[in-house]
Amino acid sequence: MDNQIPNERTIDDTADLLKEGYLYIKNRTDEYQTNIFETRVLGQKAICISGKEAGKLFYDREKFKRSSAVPKRIQKSLFGENAIQTIDGEEHSRRKLLFMSLMTPEHQKQLADLALAEWEALIPRWEKSEKVVLFDEAKLLLCRVACSWTGVPLEEQEAEKRAEDFIDMVYAFGAVGPRHWKGRLARQNTEDWIEGIIKDTRAGKLQVKEGSALSRMAHYRDSEGREWEPRMAAIELINVLRPITAIATFITFAALALHEHPGYKEKLRTQDEQQLDWFAREVRRYYPFGPFLGAKVRKDFEWNAYKFKEGTLVLLDIYGTNHDPEIWDHPDAFRPERFEDWNSSLFELIPQGGSDPAKGHRCPGEGITQEVIKASLDFLCNKIDYRVPAQDLSFHMNKMPTLPESGFILTDIKRKPL
Ligand code: HEM
Repeated sequence: MDNQIPNERTIDDTADLLKEGYLYIKNRTDEYQTNIFETRVLGQKAICISGKEAGKLFYDREKFKRSSAVPKRIQKSLFGENAIQTIDGEEHSRRKLLFMSLMTPEHQKQLADLALAEWEALIPRWEKSEKVVLFDEAKLLLCRVACSWTGVPLEEQEAEKRAEDFIDMVYAFGAVGPRHWKGRLARQNTEDWIEGIIKDTRAGKLQVKEGSALSRMAHYRDSEGREWEPRMAAIELINVLRPITAIATFITFAALALHEHPGYKEKLRTQDEQQLDWFAREVRRYYPFGPFLGAKVRKDFEWNAYKFKEGTLVLLDIYGTNHDPEIWDHPDAFRPERFEDWNSSLFELIPQGGSDPAKGHRCPGEGITQEVIKASLDFLCNKIDYRVPAQDLSFHMNKMPTLPESGFILTDIKRKPL
């Protein structure tokens, strides 16, 4: 007997999706007491799934593909056209190998060390400032770090504009209207800029360190031995620069978590690796960033006696899985120590996707993200003292991505005595 997938029976639920944001899927899986339901969003039928078992299904490459799952509007703002997020099969695996080889533990450490050194270099200016907005400082700092680490030259006077463009691409994700168009424009500007750098690299006009992300992307060859069009190489290099800059969002949430749970400051003051690791993981689990992921059914199949038809859009709930009470004890409590006896499943903590990153689309930058958050926590807890004045720290669940409204303001900053 086939099971009937619970159905929203709506002409189109896009307005509710925009209204409920991160909670859209979770509200319905909670209400129907199910891990699956059918709806219509953006003019098409979609099956929404949530939880660990759903994650295992979603990452089965025999059953799902990514090509044609990412709407053009997202390719034209967030990812770039024909980027790694939108391809399958051998070419995906080959490109993924390139990304993974640039993000080894050694690279993660390099980036974290660079970030910590840059944070420390800010202290003299911060000590003289009446106030600083942490999100703005973090995005500028990470844009500089990302460019320096990948080998992309960045003039001091252009850094702010480039950082802004990276962030605008990311914050266009769930937006309609001006924020979306800002993201598209940011993408065009950035692709023009990086395409020029790829061309200069190939022409030998730039001194580029061998093995750097810039050099590797500029000289990458596909499975048929062809060099990428310069635009394509630019798009994939931006797939490294943009998300490094976007770690600013998690750093801002990490500061919020420290403020709301001050007891952890003492634990992190010991610079205990384990404590830093659990805290950074809990920041990535607890706070919303990516809401859900999309893929298309490759060919008809059944799962738990539910029928999935070829070509149907399926959305995996990231936020809901990270807050699933079947997986997490008191999921709406911020508790880093929950990771003490966590089983490291590849399908439970999925802020950056699930499964094995080498074999599917899971984010290759997860280690970098984790290490950069840890370095930033170390800075906030062990290198400076500061005050958090009254400000609007609320964040909206219907804004995707979201952020504390004030961007997290710090005042009375002083270097911590050694
Ligand atoms: C800022 C925090 C980050 C978040 C929230 C994040 C989130 C994600 C998510 C949800 C995916 C999609 C997984 C899937 O489709 O199954 C992804 C893919 C990807 N991420 Fe990240 N990421 C972050 C940081 C990074 C960093 C630091 C890098 C590189 C330095 C990076 C590079 C990529 C790439 C290249 C992909 C595409 C992988 C593929 O399609 O195979 N991300 N990320």
